[in-house]
Amino acid sequence: MTLSGKTALVTGASRGLGGAIALALGAAGANVAVTDLLVESELPDKEQLGRYSVLAAHFAGSENVRTVSTAAEIKTMGRKSLAMKMDVTNPDQVQMVVAEIAAELGEVDILVNNAGVMDNMAALEHQNLTMFERDLKVNLTGAFNCIQAVWPYMKKSGWGRIINISSFVAVSGAFAQPGYGASKAGMIGLTRSLALEGAGHGITVNAVLPGFIETEAVQLHDPKMLDRIRARTPMKRLGKPKEISPLVVFLAGEDAGFITGAAIPVTGGADMFVF
Ligand SMILES: NC(=O)c1ccc[n+]([C@@H]2O[C@H](COP(=O)([O-])OP(=O)(O)OC[C@H]3O[C@@H](n4cnc5c(N)ncnc54)[C@H](O)[C@@H]3O)[C@@H](O)[C@H]2O)c1
Repeated sequence: MTLSGKTALVTGASRGLGGAIALALGAAGANVAVTDLLVESELPDKEQLGRYSVLAAHFAGSENVRTVSTAAEIKTMGRKSLAMKMDVTNPDQVQMVVAEIAAELGEVDILVNNAGVMDNMAALEHQNLTMFERDLKVNLTGAFNCIQAVWPYMKKSGWGRIINISSFVAVSGAFAQPGYGASKAGMIGLTRSLALEGAGHGITVNAVLPGFIETEAVQLHDPKMLDRIRARTPMKRLGKPKEISPLVVFLAGEDAGFITGAAIPVTGGADMFVF
C-alpha cells in the first residue's frame, strides 16, 4: 500500500490505459478520481462527438465506457473513488472537478495525464488545421490545463507527482499522424520544463512513453497492421495495459522522489532500430 493516504486523478480513464492505471493506483492504496470525456450515465450526441473524434463517437454509449464501474471497483478495494465527466480541453471544468475532488477525496497529490486522441490519421495533403489543432488541444494543452489546476495544491503541500502519458512516437515520429506526433513530443517538453519548476517544491514530473499497447482503441486497427507492428517489435507482441500501470504506480510513489524530467519508454523494444 505504497500510496496509502494519497489522492490521484487520472484523465481519460474510461477504458484502455487510463482504466488500468486508475485500478493500479487504487490497488496501491490511493483514493482515485476516475475522469473522462465519456461516462456511462450520459448518453452523448454521437454525431456531435463524431465531428470531434471518430474514436469517441465509436465508443460512446458502448460497454467499453467504464468510468463509473472503474470507480465502483476501486471502492471495493476499500478506497474512496469518484467517477466524473471531465473534458481536459475545458479549463473551467477542469478547475471545478479538481476542486470537487479536493472536497470529496482530498487534494490531488498524483496526476496522471492520460487522456488522448489518436484517430487523426492522414497524409499531410489530407490533414486539416482543425484536426491538427484538436490533437494539440487534447493531448498537450489538456495536460497543461490539468497540471495548472492541481499545481497550487501540490505546491502548498510540498509534494506532488505528475505523470504524463506521452508515446514513443514522440521521438520516433508518427507516420501520417503529424498532430499526434507533435503533441506527444510537446508533452516531453512540457514534462521537462515543469520538472525544473517543480523540483524546488517537491513535485516530480515525468513522462511515460508506451509502445504499441493492446487497448480497445488499438484493437480497432486492421489485423494486418497489428501483425506488422508485432513483426517490427523485438518482443514480437503488443504490450498490455497492465505492463504500463506498474511504472506509473512506481513514479507516483515515495521511492521515485529523485526521478524527475525523465521520459521512460515501455515498448518491448519497438523504439530501437529493428533489423
Ligand atoms: N495504446 C497504445 O498503443 C498507446 C501507445 C502510446 C501512447 N498511448 C497513449 O496512452 C493514452 C491512452 O491510450 P489508449 O490506447 O488507452 O486510448 P483510448 O482512446 O482507449 O483512451 C483515451 C481516453 O481518453 C479519453 N478522452 C479523449 N478526449 C478527451 C478529452 N478531451 N477529455 C477527457 N478525456 C478524453 C477517451 O474518452 C478515452 O477514454 C493516450 O494518451 C495515448 O495517446 C497509447
